[in-house]
Amino acid sequence: MHKIEKEKLRKPPRLVGRLAASIIISGAISLIPIILASYFMVNYLDLPLYVLIGLTPLYYILTKWVFNFTFLVMVRAQLKPVEEGSHEVDMRNKNVRNWMINVMLTNSATSFMGTPPLGQTLFNTFIYKFLKCQMGPGSTANKISDPYLVEMGTSSVGGAGTVIMPHISEGNKLYLKKIKIGDGAVVGVNSLVFPGAEIGEGAVIGAYSFVPRDTKVPPNTIWAGVPAKQITPKPSK
Ligand SMILES: CC(C)(COP(=O)(O)OP(=O)(O)OC[C@H]1O[C@@H](n2cnc3c(N)ncnc32)[C@H](O)[C@@H]1OP(=O)(O)O)[C@@H](O)C(=O)NCCC(=O)NCCS
Repeated sequence: MHKIEKEKLRKPPRLVGRLAASIIISGAISLIPIILASYFMVNYLDLPLYVLIGLTPLYYILTKWVFNFTFLVMVRAQLKPVEEGSHEVDMRNKNVRNWMINVMLTNSATSFMGTPPLGQTLFNTFIYKFLKCQMGPGSTANKISDPYLVEMGTSSVGGAGTVIMPHISEGNKLYLKKIKIGDGAVVGVNSLVFPGAEIGEGAVIGAYSFVPRDTKVPPNTIWAGVPAKQITPKPSK
């Protein structure tokens, strides 16, 4: 590889520039509907000035959501491939660079969508699926970091305050591994699930539990605690 290219790769990726460009482009696009709507209202509806001014909150809401969804589309288009595994945190490592870009963009997109009740709650399944999380019908989750590294079956739940986190940094290593949550499994409220965890069909993780990396939770069992341990097979109904 050319020496200048090698030097470039030693520096971290241009996160701020990428974020700023995405915000500026989404911001510019979000103004278009307002400009068109005001043109129509002034020229064809001939609305009085006080009505045009009175509609200001609606302009804000429309602009905000057009911005949010445009930004989301831009984030998806910029997502980079990462390989699962333990990667040395070195800016020459493509997986580390790509993950840094992905995490910055996906976190920004979900932050812009906002917090409950008017923000993310309404859209979070859609948002995570759009950001390449594999989620079956009826599944929902509170917070998924790196959605493209998470697979949820049908009707599985990540309760309120729960964080599904397929990345951890350990010393100078970045560990990335898919998290799989089976059909009908429930991760109790305010729990944390680490990379490589596999939660079997119908299993329940108790509230406020911690599922360490690479834990395999068998189907239809109940686990709880920090770290989570099996407390019982699921009672049959
Ligand atoms: C884990 C859970 C399913 C256990 O319910 P259960 O089968 O009725 O079990 P019990 O309440 O009888 O408790 C059994 C044992 O597990 C322990 N335990 C229960 N929940 C626990 C938790 N969240 N963390 C740690 N230990 C827990 C109890 O202290 C008890 O211990 P003991 O046998 O030493 O006394 C339930 O407590 C729970 O946390 N459910 C999560 C619900 C949830 O958050 N849903 C998300 C969407 S709303």
